[in-house]
Amino acid sequence: MTVKKTRIIFLGPPGSGKGTQAQLISKKFRIPHISTGEIFRKIISTNKPQKLASAIKKYVQNGLLVPDEIVFRALKSVLDTNGKFLLDGYPRNIKQAQLLDDYLGDNGIDIVIYFKVPDKEIIKRLTARRTCPKCGRVYNIYTLKPKKDNLCDVCNVKLIIRQDDKVTTVKKRLKIYKEDTMPLVEYYKKRNLLVEINANDTVDNVYNSVVKILEK
Ligand code: AP5
Repeated sequence: MTVKKTRIIFLGPPGSGKGTQAQLISKKFRIPHISTGEIFRKIISTNKPQKLASAIKKYVQNGLLVPDEIVFRALKSVLDTNGKFLLDGYPRNIKQAQLLDDYLGDNGIDIVIYFKVPDKEIIKRLTARRTCPKCGRVYNIYTLKPKKDNLCDVCNVKLIIRQDDKVTTVKKRLKIYKEDTMPLVEYYKKRNLLVEINANDTVDNVYNSVVKILEK
C-alpha cells in the first residue's frame, strides 16, 4: 500500500493517540516511525549511552522537555532526510521546528496532522495506559486491552506503567504542551501544512481519518 504523503508529523497533546496511530500507519504504509519519547525511554531503560541516559532521565520522568540540542542530535541520528518518515513527538516547540526546517531544506514536510482531544479525556487515557518495555507497543486497560492479562501480545513480557503517567506529571506535561507546543499549530497553519482531526473518537475512526488525509 502506498500513500501520497510520506513525510509526516503527528502533533498533539500527550495521550492524544499519536503513538497508537503512528504504529498502525507505519506498519500499513511502511513509513519509518520516529518517536523521540520512545528513543529516550530506550536509552533510559538500557542505560546506554550512560552519560546521555543520566542527562535525560530527570527530564523525561518528570514530564519536562529534554533540551533542544540533545533532542535534535537524537533525531538526526535516525532521520533519513531523503526518505519517508513519521515524526511522533517532534517538534515540541518553535525552535525544534526551525531546526527541522533548516535540516530538511527544500525537501520538507508533506503534512502535519493535529490530534485534537479534550484535557479530561487525556487524563483518563494516560492513567489507563500500559506499555511494553521491550517493543514500545501501547495498550489501555479499558479501550485496548492485551490478549493476555498485562502481557504484551507480541513479546509476552509484563506491561509497565510509564513513570510520567502519574496524574500530577500528566498535568505538568499538559501545561508544558500548551505553553511550548501549541504555538506550532499556528506555525504549520501559516505554511498550509496543518490538518486538524477529531482524535476524541475510537481508534478505528481516528485511523480512517488519518488514512484519508494521507491518501489525498
Ligand atoms: P512522548 O513519548 O512523545 O510523550 P507524549 O507526546 O506526551 O505523548 P504520549 O506518548 O503520552 O501520548 P500519545 O499521543 O502517543 O498517545 P498514545 O497513543 O500512547 O514523550 C515523552 C517524554 O520524552 C516527554 O515528556 C519529554 O520529556 C521527552 N521528549 C520526547 N520528545 C521530545 C522533544 N521533541 N523535545 C523535548 N523532549 C521530548 O495513547 C495514550 C493512551 O490512550 C493509550 O493507553 C492508548 O491505548 C489510548 N488511546 C489511544 N487512542 C485512543 C482512542 N482513540 N480512544 C481511546 N483510547 C485511546
